[in-house]
Order: sequence, then C-alpha cells, then structure tokens
Amino acid sequence: MIPSTSSSVSPKKHAMVVVGAGQMARAMVAGWQRQACPFSVIYTVDPHQVQDLGGGTMSCAHPSELPPLPQPFVVMFAVKPQILGSLLPQWAEIAKTAQAVFSIAAGFSCARLQQGLGRPVIRLMPNTPAAVGSGIVGYYIPPEVDSGAQALIQTLFSSLGMLVPVTSEDDLNRITAFSGSGPAFVYAFLEALEQAALSLGFSPDQAPVMAQTLVQGSLSLKAANPQSPAALREAVTSKGGTTEAGLSILMHPHSGLFPLLKATVQAAYQRAGEIQ
Ligand SMILES: NC(=O)c1ccc[n+]([C@@H]2O[C@H](COP(=O)([O-])OP(=O)(O)OC[C@H]3O[C@@H](n4cnc5c(N)ncnc54)[C@H](OP(=O)(O)O)[C@@H]3O)[C@@H](O)[C@H]2O)c1
Repeated sequence: MIPSTSSSVSPKKHAMVVVGAGQMARAMVAGWQRQACPFSVIYTVDPHQVQDLGGGTMSCAHPSELPPLPQPFVVMFAVKPQILGSLLPQWAEIAKTAQAVFSIAAGFSCARLQQGLGRPVIRLMPNTPAAVGSGIVGYYIPPEVDSGAQALIQTLFSSLGMLVPVTSEDDLNRITAFSGSGPAFVYAFLEALEQAALSLGFSPDQAPVMAQTLVQGSLSLKAANPQSPAALREAVTSKGGTTEAGLSILMHPHSGLFPLLKATVQAAYQRAGEIQ
C-alpha cells in the first residue's frame, strides 16, 4: 500500500533523511538551520561526506547505518541523476514507511523514481540561495500522491524561499533550466562584470567589490521601486551618452544579452529533458 501524506500536517516534527550530502543538500540544510528548523533531526547519508553538518544533523555512509527512524519521517534524494537509478533499490524498504519521498535530481522522472522505489515520489527543484532562505523551490506532485502533500511541502520547504508548484515534469525542467541552474548564470554575469572592471584598469582588489556593490545596489533600488527594470534602465540612459553607447553592445538584438540568455536557458532546458 502506498503510504498516505494526508495526515502529514501533524504537530510532531518530521525527521528528514537526505541521501547525498553534496552542494545542494548542504545548501538546503543550511537554509533549514537558519531559523526554526522544520525537522526534529536531519540524517545525511553519503559514503564520502560523513562529517555531521552541525545543528541537529547526524551523518552516516550507508542506509544500513541509520538508527531506527522515528515516525513521521521523510526521505529526500539529493545525488546526481547519473547514479540515482542504481541507488534506489537499496532505499525501497525505508521508503515504504516514509511519510513522503522527494527527489531533487534534475531531469530524473517520477516514473523512474517510482519504478525503483515501488512508491510515488515528489520532485523538487531547489537552488543554492535556499542556504540563505532566498531560494526558489519548484515542485511537482505526481497524481499518485494524495492532496496532503501540498501542505507538507509548505511546512517542510517554505523556509528555503519561494515555492513554485508546477503541473507537469516538463514544467519542472523549465524551472531547472531557469532557477535551478540560474544562480550559476547570475554568478557568471558577476564574474563578467569583474573582468570588465579589470579591463578598465581597476585593481584586482577593487574589481570584485565594485562589481558586487553595483549589482547589489541596483537590485536594492529595484526592490524599493515599483518601476520595471526597463524604466529603471531608461532612467540611467541619456540620448548620445555613455550608457547608450554601452547598451548598444549589451542590448544588440543578435549578439547582446537578451538572445544570449534565451539561448542559455534553452540549452539548460534541453539538457534537463535529455536526462529523464
Ligand atoms: N547544485 C545545484 O545547484 C543543484 C540545484 C538543483 C538541483 N540539484 C540536484 O541535486 C543533486 C545533487 O547535486 P549537487 O550539485 O549537490 O551534487 P554533489 O555536490 O556532487 O552532491 C552529490 C553527493 O552525493 C554523494 N554520493 C555519491 N554516491 C552516493 C551514494 N551511493 N549514496 C549517497 N550519496 C552519494 C556524492 O559523493 P561524491 O562526490 O564523493 O561522489 C556527493 O557528496 C543533483 O541531482 C542535481 O541535479 C543541484
């Protein structure tokens, strides 16, 4: 019988078992630990990351080393999609009694997850700013999972940032391409700004600080201002001035930032669809 999630909104906190304690799992654990952690305990299981992550976490190398799990508990797979399939059979027994099972693996389908575990799995797509409570967490609940899952996700993941429900796995691939991979695209932009500052002759000490302050200042102004990004851009641009000269390169319809970013997210989306 498939365990139900309908009784999941209970006053008793869940235990969490995280399979794979890599970059994304650690970002999520850090996000949960920032304030009232939604879990009674977080177990991480990873053959190569056996040091505890602190603050109510316990680590081990293999599922056989886990203590008897307190009810209710949930499991979250956070390993690379390339190895996830081979791992599932050894988790099937534990997954049977979990309140809910989640996977954050990009592209790895609900059908394959269910086939490997013998129960339905909810797919999540978080991103690394979850570590500071400013993430985006997309999620797809397959039809086999009952409606209580919605409330459970709210309880367990809302402290990581914005929750975005989607109604298909293809939509989750779009979230993967946009916000899952997105922090890397933003950091690449920041790196490019640093390089641009260096090319103007600013020192290696100054360039990173100036680039970050430029981005942070512009975003703070946007957050305090109801105007669109386009209106704020226009407010900096005067006819025949320096900004207009720069934007003629940055906003070139063929070689500028807009077509480049569209091609960037399309490449990520296509790759998410290839993994399945
Ligand atoms: N990074 C992101 O920003 C991000 C965002 C959204 C979703 N995701 C998804 O999150 C998943 C993990 O990505 P990541 O970037 O965190 O990768 P990662 O840093 O490589 O983390 C994966 C962890 O799993 C460990 N592992 C390997 N075999 C294992 C096993 N048999 N049992 C338990 N753990 C095992 C790895 O150990 P070794 O390194 O020693 O092999 C590593 O510590 C991926 O499926 C990815 O699609 C990542």
